[in-house]
Parts: sequence; structure tokens; C-alpha cells
Amino acid sequence: MAKFVIKKCPPLKGLVKTCGSKNAVLPVLAAAILTDGASTIRDVPSLSDVLTMEKLLESLGVKVNWDKGRDVISISASGKLHSEAAYELVSKMRASFLVMGPLLARLGEVKVPLPGGCAIGTRPVDLHLKGFSALGAHILFEHGFVSAKAKRLKGAKIYLDFPSVGATENIMMAAVMAQGQTILENCAVEPEIVDLSNFLNSAGAEVKGAGTDTIKINGVKELKETDHTIIPDRIEAGTFMVAAAITNGDITITNMLADHLKPVIAKLKEANVSVFETDKGIRVDAGEGKKLKSSDIKTLPYPGFPTDMQAQFMALLTLAEGTSIVTETVFENRFMHVGELKRMGADIKIESRSAVIEGVKMLTGAQVKATDLRAGAALMLAALTAQGATEISDIYHIDRGYCNLDEKLNSLGARIERVEDN
Ligand code: EPZ
Repeated sequence: MAKFVIKKCPPLKGLVKTCGSKNAVLPVLAAAILTDGASTIRDVPSLSDVLTMEKLLESLGVKVNWDKGRDVISISASGKLHSEAAYELVSKMRASFLVMGPLLARLGEVKVPLPGGCAIGTRPVDLHLKGFSALGAHILFEHGFVSAKAKRLKGAKIYLDFPSVGATENIMMAAVMAQGQTILENCAVEPEIVDLSNFLNSAGAEVKGAGTDTIKINGVKELKETDHTIIPDRIEAGTFMVAAAITNGDITITNMLADHLKPVIAKLKEANVSVFETDKGIRVDAGEGKKLKSSDIKTLPYPGFPTDMQAQFMALLTLAEGTSIVTETVFENRFMHVGELKRMGADIKIESRSAVIEGVKMLTGAQVKATDLRAGAALMLAALTAQGATEISDIYHIDRGYCNLDEKLNSLGARIERVEDN
């Protein structure tokens, strides 16, 4: 298996571009199942998760043509579609479950393997299924699969017990061609929800309120082809920001929307890092020799501090003067990176859903393992500043959600070597 060998680097300097959002492109690709015609999706990031979604869609009868050179996918669901998703594809990526809503809406029946848990939690799908049954689908569980059937989905009023991103997206996609109006309350308000709503509306859907906690959907007869550009990846941008902060660097990030990262920017400023808009993009100047200050983080659904930035920010706080407390409220087991950071000399104690971090003078290179996508990114950031070399194994986790993160960081002065297994 490939690994990264990372040596301490000088303060990162220069310009880096954010690519399209993983968590926006995956639901948009699933939503293409709803459209009868050939759609064009632009700013598609080159990620292994997108490759997995491409293979899943093709197995369902969707035609997908991915022009990686131009970051464009042409996609057409006009042909005959299959209603069953294969276990080996769905089990590779939890977001595969997002094909359930569109297939149910398009075919009136769907059978998808129940996604297993993953490193960060059990990740149930009860809220997705609650929405489908509220729309009139009959749900059945057997042999590790869940199936849903409905002659015609009917609009309903649905309250989500938790503002689940995936459940909001799956129910939205199921409801766009249902009979009548669907009202989704206490739904997720992430920017990726708004991007999905914009895609659906550009294809002829009637979705109102995305980005607020109540979404109203008037069912339409059919959706047609469209042309949509994916929003920038706010978590990739946040990861670059922390890379600049942890190396006392000074970088500018192009193609990022500062509005999508307000809590991260606020916390970086609290940690004594300058962040400001320039005509080229967002500049992050951690000022050589400036001391990082400790700060407390509590992850919350948007617009709170994003759980997907928790591990990366924790890496930074291991070097901040004083005590920092990181509380993870969204997932029940998203501290897998703590053990690995401690191997690099971090001083962290876990107390139930919080991690108490005492800042240390420096980290030291070690052999560590990426346990999940964002934990892997956190270890890369820690390795940029650790004394000596760090070896990170299981980097396939990182390649799932970042496009060429090693090359992009190297373009800013990092010293990351990708060592393929012979
Ligand atoms: C999306 O996952 C993202 N993935 C995650 O990003 C992100 O961490 C998460 O939203 C929260 O922002 C994609 O968009 C592909 P949730 P999702 O449903 O939809 C519980 C990354 O690193 N829940 O909002 O699975 C669940 O257990 C990934 O890019 C239920 O209880 O997240 C969790 O505790 C990781 N029942 C909480 O809600 C349900 O039916 C948040 O889950 C659904 C969710």
C-alpha cells in the first residue's frame, strides 16, 4: 500500500487553488439519475470517491463520461435503469446510499445494501428511511439490503430529528417528482445542500428554502438535462488554511468562498493567525515567529464549526500555547487521529466527547496510520512541522477526498514524497 514520507518544511508560501467540493459533487451525480437527458457537471474533483460513484452509476445503467483533463462529467440517465445497487460498490463508499432517493423517485422501487458503519461512527440511515416512508414508500429490510417501493410518491410534511446532510439530500431527491408539496423541517443547511438544490432547480425541479431549516418542494412531472458547476470544496480550503497556520506560512487560496468557512476563519484569528480577502483570493498569514494561541472548538451542524475540520484543527492546537478543548458533537467516534498525533508527541487526553490538548513546543516525526479521510489530512499537517521524517500509511483514505493534496502542498514548499509499494 502506498504511503507518504513527509519531512519538516519551511513556512509554506504561495498561491493554491481549491477544487470542486467532494460533498457537493457526490449528491449532484446521484441526482443526475432523476434527469432524462445528458447533463454536464463542471469543476468535478479528481477523487477516488468520484470514481466509485461513477462505477456505481454505470452499474445502474447511467452513462457517465468523465473528462478528467477538463474536470467535466457528461452524464445521461435516459436509458433503462436498474433498481438494485451492488454490495461491493455501496460498501466502498457510504455516500453511495444517496442513489436511493433518486432511484425510488425515477423507478418507484429500489434495493440498496445498508451502508455499514465506518471509522467515525455507526452512521445509521434511519432518517433517510423515515423520509421515504413519509412519502408513501413501503420499506423492507432483508439480507443486509433495504428496499423501498411506491406506486407514486406523495408529498408530505417531514421533520428530521437531526439536521442530517445525507437524509436532507436523499429526501429532497425523492420528493422532486412526488405528487404535491413536500415540506422538510429541521433539515441540514450546509452549502452542499444549496448546491444540490441549484442543480435540481436548473433541471426543472421546484425546490425552495435550501440553506434554511425548512425546504419546500413542489413535485414536477420530469427533470431535463442541465449544465451545473460544483461549488469549491470548503474543507479542502480549510485544510490549506491550517497548513499555512501550522508552518507559520503565508499563502493565498484561490477559488474558495470565505462565507462557507466563517467558523474556521474566526478560530484561526483567535489562534493569532491573520486571514483576509485579497484580489487574488483568501490570504492566510501566520507570520513567521508568531506564537499560536490555544482556543476551544465545538463541532456543530452548519453554520457551526464543521466536524470535517475538527481533526485538522486539532493538529494545529497541539502546538498552541496553553490548553485547548475540542468537543465533537456530530459523530460519536471521530477522535481516531488522537492516538496517532500522540505518537508524534502531542499531549491530548480524551474525556468522553472532548479532547483536552496541552500545547507542546514541537512534534516529532513517527510512523503513523491514516484511520479515515480527515484524520489522514490532520497527520499530513502535523508532519509538515514535526522534527524528522513522518511516514503515513493507508493514504488511500486521503485520496478518497482530496485531489493531489501532496502535490498542492509541495507547490507551496512542503516536502512530501508519495512512495508507491513495489
Ligand atoms: C455528510 O455525511 C458528509 N459526507 C460528511 O463528510 C460530513 O461529516 C457530514 O455530512 C456532517 O457534515 C458527504 O456529504 C458525502 P449526517 P452524512 O447524515 O450525510 C447521524 C467527509 O469527511 N444520522 O449529517 O453521512 C449520524 O450518525 C465526510 O467529507 C442519524 O442518526 O452526515 C451522524 O452522527 C465525513 N441518522 C450525524 O447524524 C441518519 O439517518 C451526522 O450525519 C443520518 C444521520
